[in-house]
Amino acid sequence: MKNNLERKFCVAPMMGCTTPYARNLYRILSKKAFLFSEMIATKTLIHSRNSNLIIANDKKNPIALQVGGSDYNDLKKCANIAYELDYDEINLNVGCPSKAVQKGSFGACLMQDKNLVKNCLSSMQINKNIEVSIKCRIGIGKNFNYEFFEEFVDEIIKSGIRIVYVHARNAILNGFSPKDNRNIPPLNYDFVKRVKKRYPHITFILNGGIDSIEKAFDLSKIFDGIMVGRLIQNNPFCLKKVDNLFFNTSSSYKVSEETIIQYFEYIKPKIGTDSIYRLLSPLLNIFFGIENGKKFKVDIHNNMKTNNFDSLEKIFLNFVKEKNVLIN
Ligand SMILES: Cc1cc2nc3c(=O)[nH]c(=O)nc-3n(C[C@H](O)[C@H](O)[C@H](O)COP(=O)(O)O)c2cc1C
Repeated sequence: MKNNLERKFCVAPMMGCTTPYARNLYRILSKKAFLFSEMIATKTLIHSRNSNLIIANDKKNPIALQVGGSDYNDLKKCANIAYELDYDEINLNVGCPSKAVQKGSFGACLMQDKNLVKNCLSSMQINKNIEVSIKCRIGIGKNFNYEFFEEFVDEIIKSGIRIVYVHARNAILNGFSPKDNRNIPPLNYDFVKRVKKRYPHITFILNGGIDSIEKAFDLSKIFDGIMVGRLIQNNPFCLKKVDNLFFNTSSSYKVSEETIIQYFEYIKPKIGTDSIYRLLSPLLNIFFGIENGKKFKVDIHNNMKTNNFDSLEKIFLNFVKEKNVLIN
């Protein structure tokens, strides 16, 4: 049986950001937020020995593995891998507009072929204890077209999926970088509201432009759930409020020296297997908006050059001790 997991608050898949190390930090700060891996191309997942640097789950459930691809056999294999690694969900990326992704025939360009997407999603349904979902846009090109979006949803849900994450803006496939595509096409939350009315039994999670926890909370009362990306990329520590606000736990998480100790316990065995920057970057945002944070940051960067993990841990511990009131 598939679990009926809560997806009221989801952290969006972000390449180069939602690494296993970042997910470790997110899980320390929130026990309940629904997490995503970075996107991984199906061929990389199947063939690359280094794929573990992206996909290691390490019991950070609830969590989805996001893949990009459009080959049915590969997608099926990936669903099996995700299941074996104890992911709760496998998610198909139909929202990424990058040129490289278009070349590989996956991402947002697939919205032009709803039948293919339906078949991709069907091939991922391996009938085990793993949910299949999609993350898509509301359309392609410069103009809004609700009928296009509705017809897309009509078709893809024939695959049996129950969860659709919607980045509620169009993807513009020519002349726009991925960054432009996250900012320039206007948001349209109304399309998500309308399609939800048509399919009350499908879970639609709203994504795009949610830039504060308070806004996320307000929107979570209107939509089935929300997904935030850059808010968490810039300041993962705002996750400390999530369990209390969204899941009614008795209080917010308090950042303390224990947070740093737990984080380092996780990354220490991984030293040497991945770059020091990837190992430590999630924690660097602890300085976000804190007075004199820059001084600590300079210290951190100097010690990163010499790979001195003991000193690095001490600097973070001192920072948390000194700035405890400001951080919490
Ligand atoms: C650095 C970065 C990497 C991203 N990588 C992915 C990805 O791997 N898969 C994906 O579906 N979306 C990716 N996105 C898009 C986000 O998941 C999200 O849809 C987008 O940022 C809009 O949400 P936001 O306004 O809350 O940031 C990425 C976004 C950023 C900022």
